[in-house]
Amino acid sequence: MKKILILGASSGIGLALTRAMLQSKCRVVGCGRNIQKLKQIKTEFPENFDYQVLDIRQTDLLTENLKNAVSKLNGMDICIISSGVSSDTSELNWETEHNIIQTNVTGFSQAAVFAAHYFIKQQFGHLAGISSVAKYFGNPNPAYNASKAFEAIYLDGLRLRLERKGIYVSTILPGFVKTPMIERQKHMFWAAKPERAAQLILKALERKKRYIFVTRRWRLFSWILPPLPFSLLRKIF
Ligand SMILES: NC(=O)c1ccc[n+]([C@@H]2O[C@H](COP(=O)([O-])OP(=O)(O)OC[C@H]3O[C@@H](n4cnc5c(N)ncnc54)[C@H](OP(=O)(O)O)[C@@H]3O)[C@@H](O)[C@H]2O)c1
Repeated sequence: MKKILILGASSGIGLALTRAMLQSKCRVVGCGRNIQKLKQIKTEFPENFDYQVLDIRQTDLLTENLKNAVSKLNGMDICIISSGVSSDTSELNWETEHNIIQTNVTGFSQAAVFAAHYFIKQQFGHLAGISSVAKYFGNPNPAYNASKAFEAIYLDGLRLRLERKGIYVSTILPGFVKTPMIERQKHMFWAAKPERAAQLILKALERKKRYIFVTRRWRLFSWILPPLPFSLLRKIF
């Protein structure tokens, strides 16, 4: 029975991943702030699911909370970091930007380092982090896309360190997935349901893929966007 730690299990992609893994008889410990949602999963899967309430921004508590989570799991084969926030305003405001940086940059990297050390010690493991195709371009609300670029490059760096030790690192790059995070998004295309996203991610993790586009057609973004001149990007945004 695989033992999986998921940060951001209470909603969206993380929740769909949690459900799919529990249905395939894995043992899962899910993390997040929303205790009600975590309790709800526990009610559905009382035997194989447990949870750890944590706020990934609380740097002084995070490592201890993750240690508790892993002890509830009684080991860890896979760690998936799905927790994340985006901007809820079109204004450029520091509070929002700072929250994104604390969650997607500081919290993300602290959790990734925790998992890396754990896997190095036990000499196996698989770390997966959810970045985004937003990493390929800037956005007038800069923190979200910049944080996603940070996550992807951070995972690239960890992969260089860990793969030679037999530890896998996967970077998940979704386009649009219909979750609460993007429910107010007006212009959406190629949007996948979270269940479909979870299915694709789990299949790719099984195959130890380094880069996982969700859905696969979003790989096009990685080819088209980086060479676009600023003058054209300005027309799009
Ligand atoms: N949906 C998309 O179209 C899309 C596209 C590309 C990338 N992504 C990425 O996919 C990941 C999952 O997003 P989603 O769409 O599933 O969003 P979501 O439904 O809003 O879920 C976000 C998850 O992150 C957790 N989280 C947020 N802040 C946290 C904090 N301070 N401490 C602990 N957990 C925290 C939330 O749990 P609590 O509220 O319980 O804390 C929740 O479980 C994110 O990294 C997002 O950037 C999403």
